[in-house]
Amino acid sequence: MLHGLDAFAERIAAALAAALDLPADVVRLERPRHDEHGEFAYPCFRIAKERGVNPAQMAQDLAAGLDIDGVGAAAVGPFLNFTIAGTDLAAAVLAASLSDSFGRGSDGRTTLVEYSSPNIAKPMHIGHLRTTVIGAALARMYDFLGHRVVRINHIGDWGSQFGKLLAAWARWGDDDALKADPIGHLLKLYVQFHAEEEQDTGLKDEAKAAFRALESGQECPERALWRRFTELSLGDFETIYQRLGAHFDLVRGESWYEDQLEGLVQWLDECGVLEESDGAQVVDLSSEGIKTPCLVRTGHGTTLYATRDLAAARSRWQEFAFDHCLYVVGAEQTLHFQQFRMVLKRCGSDWWDRIEHIPFGLVRFAEGKLSTRAGRVLRLQEVLDRAVELAREIVEEKNPEHADKQRVAEQVGIGAVVFHDLKHQRQKDVLFDWKEVLSFEGDTGPYLQYTHARCCSILRKSGRPAPSFDEVDSALLQDSRELLVALGRFPAAVREAGDKREPMLVAQALLRLGASANAFYRERRVLGGDDPALENARLAAIDAVRRTLASGLGLLGVPTPEEM
Ligand code: ARG
Repeated sequence: MLHGLDAFAERIAAALAAALDLPADVVRLERPRHDEHGEFAYPCFRIAKERGVNPAQMAQDLAAGLDIDGVGAAAVGPFLNFTIAGTDLAAAVLAASLSDSFGRGSDGRTTLVEYSSPNIAKPMHIGHLRTTVIGAALARMYDFLGHRVVRINHIGDWGSQFGKLLAAWARWGDDDALKADPIGHLLKLYVQFHAEEEQDTGLKDEAKAAFRALESGQECPERALWRRFTELSLGDFETIYQRLGAHFDLVRGESWYEDQLEGLVQWLDECGVLEESDGAQVVDLSSEGIKTPCLVRTGHGTTLYATRDLAAARSRWQEFAFDHCLYVVGAEQTLHFQQFRMVLKRCGSDWWDRIEHIPFGLVRFAEGKLSTRAGRVLRLQEVLDRAVELAREIVEEKNPEHADKQRVAEQVGIGAVVFHDLKHQRQKDVLFDWKEVLSFEGDTGPYLQYTHARCCSILRKSGRPAPSFDEVDSALLQDSRELLVALGRFPAAVREAGDKREPMLVAQALLRLGASANAFYRERRVLGGDDPALENARLAAIDAVRRTLASGLGLLGVPTPEEM
């Protein structure tokens, strides 16, 4: 299915390939640096160099010789630029963007996206916001592009730290406190354990014994408690997932792989990669350029984080035979992912390179209320509450008559936080400044939500259903090139965002669309002119903007209220 500007790009690539006597798939079109130069550009440097000709001359010759239906070609220095004819552009973009499948694909690959994966008994913090928001957006995008998507939450619910928690509970646990604020109480126990373990050696032994009881796999009081802590934690996480619109097909804690760990270690042994090192079992990775070996079993016989990841990867492969398995996890775990991929490579698996770590940068808070001060964990729930509180003040001021202010405040507050997270290149650190996050102007979520609501309002005021493509003379939109191009680039932006695992590309495409939509209705009268055909065409354009913003913001996880 071809969408938006794609059909033009194909036509251009085919004509260039024929003129240059190249296969069509090696002709790479770019986006011109300046919008006045058209919609697509072909830089002639490489091919000119290969053929020993002057690139500018080559661009000129090609421009003179090419004849592409609906597309003009012009040389600017070594670049060959292409401009789509106004009527062709308007017709193609409007037809595509008024269809419900605008931008959708039928890719067919199986893509697993693991994201969020918090640790139980600890509050989710701002770092979990990034993995949750980026992962949920990627999963929605792949779904939109037609992948078979499996969303996985790899909850951290296993490891010796749970022995510590159980020991602390035995000493200081308080049932009422647990009921009132499960995560708060469990965190307190954890902190207390670490404060006292140095003076109190008995505590450490109790922790070890408790973890051994857990690891035995037998039903025991420790296991029952651990299960209770897990359930309470998951309940807490769920309220956040609902607010963020994130969901999972599989919620599988690390403990789920417990009975596969023995088999995994055996597999590594059979593959001949397992070595002894100071009583522990490791996989040496120096042949893969990694100095630190991967530790899979300690001298005491306990398995580790990496062991569970290896077991999980293998189990996922057996269950889904995935084309891609993505792990949206902070950049600080890069070494861990390099190690465990290389272990799989050394084992001779032919799927290790389908495993991909999708790292992201840190969030820093600008000073002010709710900044992170030393020793204080800023809970994600608090961040979201604060965003909604600030949004409520803005809604109160901008639209005191609104029928459901609390609901809109929730949508705007959460949407602002989510959009802010996704508009940056994911690998970069993000500076979180409340004023900027919630601004209704500039490159923000509320600005796009507002643009969407504005389109809804224009359509409501027209008092009739939005015109369908057949009812519109699209040629009347020829003067709105910028808007048409911004709409027409949406499908390619989603595809590229999927290929590069970079939701920012969708966010940026929507910001350009928002800016051109605002210019469109600021400079043109949509309703109430004396030309009904023109009104029809402009209403259709507004409807296309509304649909595309709703679809694109929906992919990012930003709600789109119809009125704000
Ligand atoms: N639970 C870990 C943490 O909060 C993240 C898990 C990431 N996923 C994985 N498969 N290792 O740090």
